[in-house]
Parts: sequence; structure tokens; C-alpha cells
Amino acid sequence: MILAIETSCDETAAAAVSPVGRVLANVVASQAELHRRYGGVVPEVASRRHLELVVPVVREALDGAGATLEDVERIAVTRGPGLVGALLVGISAAKALAWSRRLPLVPVDHLHGHVSSLFLAPDPVEPPFLCLLASGGHTMLLDVREHGSFDVLGGTLDDAAGEAFDKGARLLGLGYPGGSAIDGLAREGDPDAFGFPVARVPGLDFSFSGVKTALLYAVRELGEEEAARRRADLAASYQRAIVRALVERTREAARRTGHERLAVVGGVAANSELRASLPEAAAAPLTLCTDNAAMIGSAARYSEGLRYPEYLSLDAYASASL
Ligand code: KG4
Ligand code: ZN
Repeated sequence: MILAIETSCDETAAAAVSPVGRVLANVVASQAELHRRYGGVVPEVASRRHLELVVPVVREALDGAGATLEDVERIAVTRGPGLVGALLVGISAAKALAWSRRLPLVPVDHLHGHVSSLFLAPDPVEPPFLCLLASGGHTMLLDVREHGSFDVLGGTLDDAAGEAFDKGARLLGLGYPGGSAIDGLAREGDPDAFGFPVARVPGLDFSFSGVKTALLYAVRELGEEEAARRRADLAASYQRAIVRALVERTREAARRTGHERLAVVGGVAANSELRASLPEAAAAPLTLCTDNAAMIGSAARYSEGLRYPEYLSLDAYASASL
């Protein structure tokens, strides 16, 4: 089996994945509580917390799989993109584990990881397909032709979709991270109450900075009390605008590429309105949409990995190296 570690942001995660893509254990220790009072992830705080959590989380994943290190055939780890200090904690742990058992180490790109969440049993999605990747750090349309690679058709010019959800949630006083809070509150509101425009940019790219500003102005105009009273309407209208933009562009990309099969991955793929608006799109279970290590183990199934001493020089990278 593959033992995978993911520490790119504020989740310390480890998972055990079988060679055929069965998730044997999937442990995610979220640090959200720790960062909440700062309104976002503090990189140095995240690194320190990863350091405390990585060994217990790996242990729990092995226990959960009913396994020991003896049963592990390959170690997988997220190499980037993400917070470099946070990534290095996972990479160092992975190197130590690989070295101690003389195992190959597979470095995995986080975005490939998100796509690979779709390749897990029991209902794996087989390429080719068009994939919308929407997370806190990225919003991309991907042409996925095989398991191990994809072409980027479009991306965001400014904020990522998840970032737009988080910033909107902050404006509405819903705390951090706010995507799922907006999702929940939106169910009680009227999505047509406010008309929030989403900028249409050329090609297959996205832009979400305008819709965030529109929400800011709406909240200001209403005043504190009225904005609080109409919070559900604001959340519903805001979510509608973001989801519309995502859905329109995804359908446009499907038209242009001729892909008949669609899929959505990343934290925002957990959004109930997005899932309902793209009913034909494949999506992983909610726990595999937000950051986890099972998806990293899944991606590692398609790569041989590095041997000792090759992997010792492995370094993290902060931004997408596509
Ligand atoms: O993939 P992910 O866990 O981490 C990154 O790689 O960035 O995505 C996290 C993002 C956050 O911005 C969070 O607010 C958003 O996914 N998110 C949601 C929902 N659940 C998580 N956004 C909208 N609706 C949700 N239900
Ligand atoms: Zn992610």
C-alpha cells in the first residue's frame, strides 16, 4: 500500500491507499480553529502545528488501515504548490519514513492530487474528461487526457473561487474558512435578492475580485443592522454569482473541447449549489474534495517514485509549476 502525507496548507493529513485505489485510512487534522482568530492561515503557525501533528496523524492512518510500516510499499508526499514551510514538514517526514524503510518516495503536485481524488475506488472516473478544479488557492479548467497529466485551459486572473467564498464569508461575519458557512446560510436565503455581477473575461479564464467588491458595497449600503438581517439573502445571491461563473465557463470549455464528460474537484466542489448546477459532472465524496492525503496517495499510483539518495534533494515549491 501507499502511505501519503499532505501538509500544503492548514490541514495535516495522512492516508493509506491500496494499489487499486481503495482508501484504507484517511486522517485529516484541521488547524482551522487555530487560525480562525487571525481570519486566515498564518504560515509560521501552520508549519509549527504540522510539526506537532505529522507523526500522530501518520500513526493514526496506519492504525486505521490496520497496518504497520512493514506493509507500506511507497511513500507519497505533496511537494507544492502551497506554503513552503508547511510543505517542508511533510516532505521531511516523508523522506525520513522512506529512508528508514528503504522505500521509494513519490513527490505529488497538489493540483494533480485534487484531480486524482476522482481516480479512487469504488467509483473511479476514467480519463478523458474536462475538470473544473476550484479550491482556496486555485480555479482552473483542465483537459484531463490521462491519469498522470493534464493541460490547463483556463485559470483565474485574480482571486480563486474558494478565496472569494472565504472573503465573502468574512464580510458577512461568518468566520474562516467560510465556504461551507455560506453554503449553509444560502439555503435560507433568496439567490435573486441581490444582483452581484461576475466579470466576464475573455477566453476560459475567471475573475472573482469584482464580485467580492460588489458584496462589500452592498453590505456598506445596507448598513450593519440591515446587512445582518439580510445575511442569508446576501449569502445566497453571492454564492449564486460565483457558481454561475464557474458553471458557465465549464460548459463553455466543454463546448470548445468537445468533452462530453465533466468533473469537479477541490474544496469548492463540496458546494451544494455547484454540485446541483452541474448534475452531469462527476464529483468525489465531500471528504475527498477538501484537502486530504488520500488524493495524494491516489496520484502516486501513477508514478514510480524516487529512490535513495535521489529524493534527498527534493524541495517544496510555492506556486503551480505547470
Ligand atoms: O481544496 P481545499 O481544501 O484547499 C485548497 O487547496 O485551497 O479548498 C478550500 C476552499 C476554501 O476556500 C473553502 O472555503 C472552500 O474550499 N470550501 C467551500 C465549501 N467547502 C469548502 N466553498 C464553497 N462551498 C463549500 N461547501
Ligand atoms: Zn487543495
